[in-house]
Amino acid sequence: MRKSAKNKRYSPQSPIGIFDSGVGGLTVFKEIERLLPGEHIVYMGDTARVPYGNKSPKTVVRFSTENVLFLLENKVKLVVVACNTSSSLALDFLQKTFSVPIVGVIDPAVEKAVEVSPGRRIGVIGTKSTIKSGVYQKKILQKDSRARVCVKACPLFVPLVEEAMLSGPITEDIARYYLKGFKGGIDTLILGCTHYPLLKKIIASYLKDVHLINSAYEVAVKVRGVLRHSGLLNPGRRGRREFFVSDEPAGFMKLARLFLNKTTGKPKVINV
Ligand code: DGL
Repeated sequence: MRKSAKNKRYSPQSPIGIFDSGVGGLTVFKEIERLLPGEHIVYMGDTARVPYGNKSPKTVVRFSTENVLFLLENKVKLVVVACNTSSSLALDFLQKTFSVPIVGVIDPAVEKAVEVSPGRRIGVIGTKSTIKSGVYQKKILQKDSRARVCVKACPLFVPLVEEAMLSGPITEDIARYYLKGFKGGIDTLILGCTHYPLLKKIIASYLKDVHLINSAYEVAVKVRGVLRHSGLLNPGRRGRREFFVSDEPAGFMKLARLFLNKTTGKPKVINV
């Protein structure tokens, strides 16, 4: 696929495109909406093919490419890869392939972690595919070669969040099971998955005094910087929001309430 000059037709009034494997990217949507309320936003959740977190790099690259193509049809001026798994496995390919600015969630989180970690002992949690990719580990060490990085895949966290089990004994047990290796060993932990900000309380209560890095917030700050730098910030007051999903909308709408504390309205269904 060649970079297309067509992608250059954007202005401050063009929307920001956000994609995720499903509903989890709403954590990123929420922070972008909060920080940049004047922006129009097109959100695409690939609910027909979720989860990405246990899929191969080849498959995640293919799905992610299709998601970007969909957002480009909607004339977005910037694409946010809200999904950590896509950001780990597909971001390089997407950035080489498309001319529209594409922002992933890894770099903003890594930059913040390296900045705030007092003792250079940084932990990362994410899906199996994110952790297996080694991208977080590589990027942290590129920023600070003296950092000590400790990682753990936490595959049960996504279904726990999607079952709205944000607290209670089962979630506490699972959190303890995944996080016990970090106890006393890290001072900073990157929540390297869209869903994990919803488990922040339980993680913080187990890993007391550890800085928790919410990549959703960090990426919103990055998006604002990129738009400002390229003169594409929308000065409006209240942007339009449009939601698209690739499977039937009911599940998305129900979970959206959990993620956003408000409704999204009925998303439009697209074929992927
Ligand atoms: N959005 C994914 C991520 O941030 C989590 C859900 C999935 O596995 O697709 O890695």
